[in-house]
Amino acid sequence: MKQEIIENILKNHETPIYVFDIDKLKQRIKFLRENLTKRLELCYAIKANTFIVKEINDDVDRFEVCSPGEYSICEESEITPEKIVISGVYKTPSVIEHMITTNPKIGRYTVESQEQLKLLDELSKKYNVKLNVLLRLTSGNQFGINEEDIEEAIAKKDSYTNLIFEGIQYFSGTQKRTNKRLQKEIDYLDEFLARLEEKYGFISKELEFGTGFPVHYFQGEEFDEVEFLKEFSNGIDNMKYSGKIVIELGRSIAASCGYYLTKVVDKKTNKCQNYAILDGGIHHLVYYGQTMAMKFPHLEIYPSRDNKSTQEWNLMGSLCTVNDIIIKQYPVSNLQVGDVFIFKNTGAYCMTEGISLFLSRELPEVALLKVGELKLVRKAYKTYSLNQANYYIN
Ligand SMILES: Cc1ncc(COP(=O)(O)O)c(C=O)c1O
Repeated sequence: MKQEIIENILKNHETPIYVFDIDKLKQRIKFLRENLTKRLELCYAIKANTFIVKEINDDVDRFEVCSPGEYSICEESEITPEKIVISGVYKTPSVIEHMITTNPKIGRYTVESQEQLKLLDELSKKYNVKLNVLLRLTSGNQFGINEEDIEEAIAKKDSYTNLIFEGIQYFSGTQKRTNKRLQKEIDYLDEFLARLEEKYGFISKELEFGTGFPVHYFQGEEFDEVEFLKEFSNGIDNMKYSGKIVIELGRSIAASCGYYLTKVVDKKTNKCQNYAILDGGIHHLVYYGQTMAMKFPHLEIYPSRDNKSTQEWNLMGSLCTVNDIIIKQYPVSNLQVGDVFIFKNTGAYCMTEGISLFLSRELPEVALLKVGELKLVRKAYKTYSLNQANYYIN
């Protein structure tokens, strides 16, 4: 991050703070499009970062939305309804009813259980509206339904008079670092789609595929992403299936636009170990697998300094738990109270997946950086009232 931008942030804002660089985010989406086969469309899984959705309404083809709260964010951000895919393992019936009655243009609903199929069928008939559905194929967990259940639904397709079976959705997990695994999934889906056509004459108009593309969070884990995307694209281009394919991505789109700034507020040496206490902590920094204490994530220190005559510091957060270790034994020269660590690649999951209510600490400010200008989009938020017995509730 440019020094003048860091100075501007620190002059006008408290730490800890998240900054999401929207120009970088748009560049990232462009990079993905340029390096993936043109056949693919992009769906952004908004769980990765809900603060950026409005900014990329024109940059992605779809938004995957998994809860009433995420839907409200899309509504208030005026996301194009046709781009919304209502997904999720629990679809609150009253909320789905509200969506169907108030926003008939919503693009798609996924079906993750027999219950959900029944719900969508009943509501579509009750309100006499056509609903586009994607049948989610399970990968062997609580999400989606079995191949046989999909086959059964397709066999009885005509009885779901107001449901339009657009195709299949599939997601089997994140941080897939090898194309070998992805290729296996491509082959599996290709074969399944061919079987649906052969057995039921069902031509799936589309496949929505959560590929779980990896983000390399830690130093030394860099990889040739262009080659990775090329290989994946070849796999897609070689499919027998000729319908539309949309890939659902969360972290691969959002991670790189994020910066998390946290300040050293205290330092000490206990039993020969150096400890720097930061005003943030692990409740704000969720990298995949929570293994970061043992590895060095990509980060900068401000003011910048040469790395001569370093000492090793344990960077600790401000939660009162021994687990609040951000990094162990990080080499820093002349560490001072007031120094700021800027953690990169923090644009996905950090601000939503953390244990934010622990210790009743404030939620950090969130700012968007656009063409060099910083725009505060969430003030710091006091959480203590959420953790407090309220004796005046009626
Ligand atoms: C259905 C679905 N699609 C896409 C994603 C996004 O995954 P990632 O952030 O690894 O791209 C998730 C994440 O949990 C998901 O559940």
